[in-house]
Amino acid sequence: MVRSSKGRTPVYVCVCRAVTENEVHDCIAAGAKSARQIRDTTGAGGDCASCVRKICAILKRSENLMPTA
Ligand code: FES
Repeated sequence: MVRSSKGRTPVYVCVCRAVTENEVHDCIAAGAKSARQIRDTTGAGGDCASCVRKICAILKRSENLMPTA
């Protein structure tokens, strides 16, 4: 079993490109605002695209956590 540096089992968002949820979160924290930007950075969604809905859901959740001005 693969473990991350924190001892947790990584949660894969994109199986085709082996991109984890943490990598997507890191990408959003670095400024990504769309599934396309996440794809361009991590490759997630670049093959079968079945993960794009999951990526959009993660983006939506992160938007909801952002403080409003
Ligand atoms: S699961 Fe992400 S491109 Fe296939």
